[in-house]
Amino acid sequence: MIRLNEHYLKLNSSYLFSEIAKRVNAFQKQNPSKEIIRLGIGDVTNALPKACIEAFHKAVDDMANDATFKGYGPEQGYEFLREKIARFDFQARNADIEADEIFVSDGAKCDTGNFQELFSNDLSIAVPDPVYPVYVDTNVMAGRTGSFENGRYSGLYYLECTEDNDFIPSLPSQKVDLIYLCFPNNPTGAVATRSQLKQWVDYARKEKALILFDAAYEAFIYDLSLPHSIYEIEGARECAVEFRSYSKTAGFTGTRCAYTVVPKSCMIYDSQGNQHSLHSLWNRRHCTKFNGVSYPVQRAAEAIYSEEGASQVREIIDQYMTNASMIRKTMTEKGYSCTGGENSPYIWINGKIDSWMFFDKLLSEAGVVCTPGAGFGRCGEGYIRISAFNKKENVEKALVRIGEALTA
Ligand code: MLT
Repeated sequence: MIRLNEHYLKLNSSYLFSEIAKRVNAFQKQNPSKEIIRLGIGDVTNALPKACIEAFHKAVDDMANDATFKGYGPEQGYEFLREKIARFDFQARNADIEADEIFVSDGAKCDTGNFQELFSNDLSIAVPDPVYPVYVDTNVMAGRTGSFENGRYSGLYYLECTEDNDFIPSLPSQKVDLIYLCFPNNPTGAVATRSQLKQWVDYARKEKALILFDAAYEAFIYDLSLPHSIYEIEGARECAVEFRSYSKTAGFTGTRCAYTVVPKSCMIYDSQGNQHSLHSLWNRRHCTKFNGVSYPVQRAAEAIYSEEGASQVREIIDQYMTNASMIRKTMTEKGYSCTGGENSPYIWINGKIDSWMFFDKLLSEAGVVCTPGAGFGRCGEGYIRISAFNKKENVEKALVRIGEALTA
């Protein structure tokens, strides 16, 4: 008899963004003439930068010719891309990362979700609340939690992020082995300073813990004093894995390309306390389960690091960040307290009512989709998240409609 992994039964019946899509589709069906503006899931609307498209086309042409055709590539990614990542994303910021510590992949969602496969099942795990649901759900699927009660899974240590701590979690009061951090944060848009990250790195080194650091939104940091990578913090090479993505940075949500950094000095321990190389283990897993990102996509990603690619990417990010500041300004003027939107594309808004009620109100009265904060955890109740990823004219229109709905 085919048997189920019963840990799946502990999960909410659908993934947050699937649930939202379901509700939006049902609303659209009932109101076919209503124009809906989507500021919910962080999905980009601008076309790929011109430099990426040119590199993409050229690489497709390479595939049309026996002399330049590529079959299987290196599972970890082509040298041409890994070297540029190491140089421009890390060494240029004095972060000591080498090309062979980078694993190119098809998404930070998959990587943050898959990485937990390397860990034992009796770990103590700290996750922020609110949190990107993938970190939690994948540990639930693997059986590292108990059941879901009162908005939380038993067995996880929740790091509460609230207005009282400016949405930056404090160190845990009990020992944990694995820590998920995300800065700039999804969903709150909060950012961490060097000294805040240093506390986490020091904690992890002391406890032989590991930090999984999601930096998918680093390109949206405008404040020059803020770190973009955890490897800008001394000691992080020993205790942190970092996830990056081209999805939001360069519009690759549909094209798919990301990478994970696993420093060679990062160790993991067996039940006898012997240390093993995390890099070798992730390499083993990656080569077994993944055959690499396609050559044309990696060439398109490489183009981001050219002078023209970098300036086109900056222009697109600036457009989204103009949207972010308009959203933040309008919602603040309406009397809502807001976080994010200054160094991140998400604005986290204290809606002062049940978050799904706020979601329904904006959908039904303004035709605008946001994300209910409760979907990210118990501390998200009462909040909504508005994403800046859309065309400026749509954001302007959405803000007029939201303004009307909130004064009606
Ligand atoms: C979000 O809206 O939180 C993100 O787009 C989800 C993701 O990147 O998977």
